[in-house]
Amino acid sequence: MTNKFKYFIGNWKMFGDIGSFKIVSKINQYAYKDKKVNKKKIVLCVPNTLIHFYNKKLKKKYISLGVQNCHSNEKYGSFTGSVSASMLKKAGAQHVIIGHSENRSEGETNQLLKKKVNSAINQKLNVIFCIGETHKDKKLGKTFSIIRNQMKETLNKQINLKKIILAYEPVWAIGSNKIPKINELNIIINFIKKTFKKNFKSKKYPKVLYGGSIGPKNIKLFASINEIDGFLVGGASQSSKKFIDIIKNYYK
Ligand code: 13P
Repeated sequence: MTNKFKYFIGNWKMFGDIGSFKIVSKINQYAYKDKKVNKKKIVLCVPNTLIHFYNKKLKKKYISLGVQNCHSNEKYGSFTGSVSASMLKKAGAQHVIIGHSENRSEGETNQLLKKKVNSAINQKLNVIFCIGETHKDKKLGKTFSIIRNQMKETLNKQINLKKIILAYEPVWAIGSNKIPKINELNIIINFIKKTFKKNFKSKKYPKVLYGGSIGPKNIKLFASINEIDGFLVGGASQSSKKFIDIIKNYYK
């Protein structure tokens, strides 16, 4: 169940412009040089406005680029202001984050997310599917039932495991400088893997990342969780130094 090479995925959120390419370029150079990292597992999910430009500008690509959401309709349609999975794929995205709590809090339901996941997978995008409980859910002891429902109501039984990565992001840990207790996180990561395998009659365990307030100073704490497949980094991925230090410190 364990994997030596971990994913380090940056979610830039609403950050970045043309000039921020220097951040992408530095991380790309780092991925080229460091033999400890698996290049396919370093991903930066940037705003839609930048994916095409960065993709073209990055002549030799040692990292992957992705985006942070897509519309549920797969190709084209009358959906003002929206961008589809097919359009993002053509602009150079290889990954797409779906179900981030910042989008769920604006009304994205499990049913809508199911359509989004399907259209992204149909377009051969790799999906980073976010799940996680709020502070209130946690206090009420609902963590396990919430994340089980988020998986069951959104993912298909015949989901292609090669195309999906689950990201456990407790809502209360995002941007708060709070992280879960390591032993609790270990239990939750294992719960997600086992629940997925059982419910989706999958032969293999899915990949599961952790996200929420990760930085260079706390990353080493997570190294004791063998089953974790990597990390989804928000704010700290907006700095090449912090993002690279996260990777370096993890393997130190
Ligand atoms: P922070 O790392 O800023 O807490 O954000 C985590 C996150 O939302 C990644 O998707």
